Amino acid sequence: MEQSNLSANTVMDHPRALTDKITQIRIAGPSKFQVIADFDATLTRYRVNGLRGQTSHGLLQQGDAYYDAKRQALYDHYHPLEISPVIPIDEKTKLMEEWWSKTHELLIEGGLTYAAIKKSVANSSIAFREGVTELFEFLEKKEIPVLIFSAGLADVIEEVLRQNLHRTFKNVKIVSNRMVFNDDGQLVSFKGKLIHVLNKNEHALDMAAPLHDQLGVDTGEEDEENANMKQRTNVLLMGDHLGDLRMSDGLNYETRISIGFLNDNIEKSLESYREAFDVVYLNDAPMWGALELVSQLFSTEA
Ligand code: TMP
Repeated sequence: MEQSNLSANTVMDHPRALTDKITQIRIAGPSKFQVIADFDATLTRYRVNGLRGQTSHGLLQQGDAYYDAKRQALYDHYHPLEISPVIPIDEKTKLMEEWWSKTHELLIEGGLTYAAIKKSVANSSIAFREGVTELFEFLEKKEIPVLIFSAGLADVIEEVLRQNLHRTFKNVKIVSNRMVFNDDGQLVSFKGKLIHVLNKNEHALDMAAPLHDQLGVDTGEEDEENANMKQRTNVLLMGDHLGDLRMSDGLNYETRISIGFLNDNIEKSLESYREAFDVVYLNDAPMWGALELVSQLFSTEA
């Protein structure tokens, strides 16, 4: 087995295979390329100020202690089931649907407002990995789309992007659970199909269609945009779980480079991560490696 450690935080088992992929993607050019990224603990840091950083669900404070406590109780009940290795997948899928539905119902029942989302994000302990802005800027300049897939909450993720990156990127799309607010700014429903942790990765790109619709994009443009995405058959995929590798399932990709962020249980998980991902970053590494990679792919000199 070929092995090289570029730095203490980078593990790459097959550098030559990666070089071949880089060559193939570079020859095909930026119009054939897209980036698909998980959100929590992939674009965001796993630890913030020494503590576990919050997720889009975790940071939300409804402004009503009763509902916050009820959602926390659901978390305490369902999260151990989510990570249990012994529950069969069919059963677990039903449990996750149950959890997400109940949480969404509580958010609606508790009358979550957009103002509460803004406040929650402002008070949250969530932070992007260093270099995310620079990565998005580079990709925007090259007109390369970035799809953020998450089983979290689209509106919260958008607010996190807004407050932490201080600008919007026209090439960045979020596929996640999207809220509908009434004229009083209160949450009344969720749009489209529920995206939970076990269906997130199945046909993820197919889910992008109704969500583009939900974003209010004109259908003609949406079809065009979707067709365009499917033609971008070279992909950089980034995730923090092995299951995130399935985010490209809906894409009949030609060449895929995968980056895995291994944040926890390093000793136990390193072997499987290094086999599954082309590059593994350890210890809450920044995004500079990913930026260097895409710069290598599409630098003007190349
Ligand atoms: P993802 O960010 O990898 O797409 O997964 C979403 C995470 O959200 C998942 O690990 C469980 C978590 N979650 C909560 O923390 N609270 C909730 O109420 C729900 C429904 C999910």
